[in-house]
Formats: sequence, C-alpha cells, structure tokens
Amino acid sequence: MRNTEIRIATVDDASHISTLGKITFSETFGHLFRKKQDLLRYVETTFSVSKITAGLHKSSNIFWIAFADEKPIGYAKLKLDSPTEFVDATAICQLQKIYVLKEFLSLKIGPELQKQLLAKAQELSYKYIWLSVLDSNDRAIRFYKKNGFDIIGSHDFTIGQEHFDFFAMGKKLKE
Ligand SMILES: CC(C)(COP(=O)(O)OP(=O)(O)OC[C@H]1O[C@@H](n2cnc3c(N)ncnc32)[C@H](O)[C@@H]1OP(=O)(O)O)[C@@H](O)C(=O)NCCC(=O)NCCS
Repeated sequence: MRNTEIRIATVDDASHISTLGKITFSETFGHLFRKKQDLLRYVETTFSVSKITAGLHKSSNIFWIAFADEKPIGYAKLKLDSPTEFVDATAICQLQKIYVLKEFLSLKIGPELQKQLLAKAQELSYKYIWLSVLDSNDRAIRFYKKNGFDIIGSHDFTIGQEHFDFFAMGKKLKE
C-alpha cells in the first residue's frame, strides 16, 4: 500500500512540477508530434523551471502537488479570475492542469486533485469553472464529465507543424 499525500505547492516545488509537466505531457501527447523537435521545444519552454517558478509566484494561481511514498507523482493548477469567451458569467476560474504520471494513474490521485481544486474554487466563492481539453483525450474528457463538466465550445492551437483541436468544458459551482 502506497502512502499518498496532496498539498498546496510552493515555489520550492518548482523543479518537481517542471519535471512532472515535461514527463506527463510527453507520455500523454508525445505520439501526436511528427517532429520530435516540436515536442521538445514546446515542453522545454512550457514547463521550464523559470516559467513554473513565475507561475508559482503569481497570487492568481494555486498549485497542488501529489506524492506517493514521498516521490512527486502529479500536480494541479487553478487559475483564479479567468474569464472566457465561452461563458457569460462573473467570478470565473480555470482548471489549467491536472497531470498524473502514467505509472501512478492507478492510485486515483487525479480524482483527489480534482476534488481539492473544485473545493478550493468553491471556498473562494467562484461561480463557474472551465478548462480546455484536447478533443481526442477521451480519458480526461470522461474524467471531467464524471464531475459535472459539460462541453461548452471548441478552439484550436498550433505547436510547430501540429494543429490541435480542443474542447472547452465548463461547470457551474454551487452557490
Ligand atoms: C486526466 C487525469 C488527471 C484523470 O485521472 P484518472 O485517474 O485517469 O481519472 P479516472 O480514472 O477517475 O477517470 C478516467 C475515466 O476514463 C476512463 N478511461 C480510462 N482510459 C480511457 C481511455 N483510453 N479512453 C476513454 N476512457 C478511458 C476510466 O475508466 C475512467 O472512467 P470510469 O471512472 O467511468 O471508469 C489523468 O488521466 C492524467 O493525468 N492523464 C494524463 C494527463 C492529462 O491528460 N491531463 C488532462 C489534460 S486536460
């Protein structure tokens, strides 16, 4: 039985989160890139320690980090005050990341990260939460639907020579 723990992350966790981001993105989406260089460039920029450190410093973000037997295995990021074209509402926040290493998916840390993130959004009186998910990421879409998110729109994004289509999903938070 593994000993798991989830806590709010601090700036001291930046290098762990950087590594978790790079590995999880590559093992989940790496096969979608025809040019390895496009993947490497994206991952090195998006999950650089300096970028993650800057994100952790911002008061508009909350990060969680998850451990199994004291080893980092996943993280989540909530962006506060994040309006979107897809929703006409006030007090909107965004679930920006829930990433769990493939090897540890069976520990069901993803659901616990989502639970804690949604509880925090509610505690901070947000009325609506939204996210973007790759339209082919069936596992994540199912994971969000189980927790009351619905598809509310779509958008696209290009990385190098790859074009990606995303669903926007959203959910009203309880008053
Ligand atoms: C997204 C993520 C956090 C969800 O956590 P999880 O532990 O996998 O979540 P759960 O197992 O509770 O839910 C996933 C659901 O999809 C199902 N599922 C598993 N593999 C699937 C697949 N290949 N296709 C469709 N559904 C799948 C599971 O059975 C489960 O549904 P169920 O509870 O009805 O059985 C985790 O999978 C993850 O970190 N993935 C890699 C990174 C990622 O994609 N992050 C989200 C980016 S938006």
